[in-house]
Amino acid sequence: MTSTGGDPGAAARAELVAQLRRRGTLSEPRVAAALGQVPRHVFLPEVDLPGAYADEAVPTLYRDGVPVSAASQPAIVAIMLEQLRPPRGGRVLEIGAGTGYNAALLSHLVGPSGRVVTIDIDPDVAAGARAHLAGAGITNVTVICGDGAAGRAEDAPYDGIIVTAGASDLAPAWAGQLAPAGRLVVPLSIRGVQHCVSFTRDGGRLRSTAVCECGFMPLAGAMANADRRLPVPGHPGVFVLTAPDTEVDTAVVAAALGRPGPAAATGLTASVRETFGSLPRWLAFREPASASLAYLRPPEDAAASGVPSVLDSPLRSALQRSAPCLLGTTGFAVLDLARPPGAGTDPGPDPVLELAVRSYGEAQLQRDRLAELIAAWAAAGRPQASHLRIHAYPAGSAPSAAEGFVHRAPHTTFVVSLR
Ligand SMILES: C[S@@+](CC[C@H](N)C(=O)[O-])C[C@H]1O[C@@H](n2cnc3c(N)ncnc32)[C@H](O)[C@@H]1O
Repeated sequence: MTSTGGDPGAAARAELVAQLRRRGTLSEPRVAAALGQVPRHVFLPEVDLPGAYADEAVPTLYRDGVPVSAASQPAIVAIMLEQLRPPRGGRVLEIGAGTGYNAALLSHLVGPSGRVVTIDIDPDVAAGARAHLAGAGITNVTVICGDGAAGRAEDAPYDGIIVTAGASDLAPAWAGQLAPAGRLVVPLSIRGVQHCVSFTRDGGRLRSTAVCECGFMPLAGAMANADRRLPVPGHPGVFVLTAPDTEVDTAVVAAALGRPGPAAATGLTASVRETFGSLPRWLAFREPASASLAYLRPPEDAAASGVPSVLDSPLRSALQRSAPCLLGTTGFAVLDLARPPGAGTDPGPDPVLELAVRSYGEAQLQRDRLAELIAAWAAAGRPQASHLRIHAYPAGSAPSAAEGFVHRAPHTTFVVSLR
């Protein structure tokens, strides 16, 4: 990787842009220009140059051993900016300032006559974002420390509102502060599985214009993500992630973790994206006992924690180490790999995974059910998030169930259907 004297990140940035284009996650020239010019390394001063320009999320703050702030993965950053389409000269609100990097990209997109307001709930994070933006010479971004659930009425309406932490409901302020033709882009969990959704107004409701898979850390504050992240006692860093109404006994999970059964190959292969994007959604919409087993500590300690090898895989970033599981009363079954991808060779950027299921404790029924659901998912063509249509109605409205799967959150009723 070469570097130019005045701009040490220029070559690495150009390579990152080229890589995102090749992988099909970046096509809009304005977004490519922003990614090619904003120096990500200035927003990640603790990270070396190759690390700052790798297509990886970079955790920047841990509390109680769990990441609470990060620079998001450039691929999803690019996708969300393409979904948002902020107009030149426009006004944008970001919830989740983090490092300030995405706000800097937004500043580039709206140009000098546009305006960006970014909010972070954590005072240290907000101060860091302010310092990084100043270091990058960016002057049209205002960083606020506060709870983004309230939006920021003073500067509304916004041509775009982008949320960069995972929500499980839509704050009424977001729709209320959106300009008539504005877009709201938000990572949204439905039945415990996140999708990044771009919404526009459609009469009294919001209508999705694009849906993709994503994995953001949870929104905190008044509209905190209601999905549960339950620590497994005696297994530091191991959590069960579930939708709010799923029954979980973490003592059963803890006891079962010490009693792994053999990995039973399903005979199916899948890409990383299919395995960790499409499959968990398929399970969540069909099986009330589905959840995810997650390992959220730095990877070095994963093997000692007792989690299956799928969570210890070098393929997964530190923020996304979770695998779908089915919970039972005497154990659980979890997706695992039949053998490590590539088996000794470089697995490449999109390795083929050999899927297996594994029971922990007494969970043969769950293991067989998981294998059956995985086979049904493969037979149904492994539907992607992009096939979904999501309508969001204010809570209290009664959309017809014939429209699709109805999911009620406190402030919003979502209706999910296939395009
Ligand atoms: C993935 S990081 C954001 C990444 C960021 N956009 C960047 O470019 O680096 C998520 C951020 O959301 C913040 N956050 C969580 N809940 C929030 C809330 N209710 N209001 C504002 N910020 C919140 C966290 O403190 C964290 O910094």
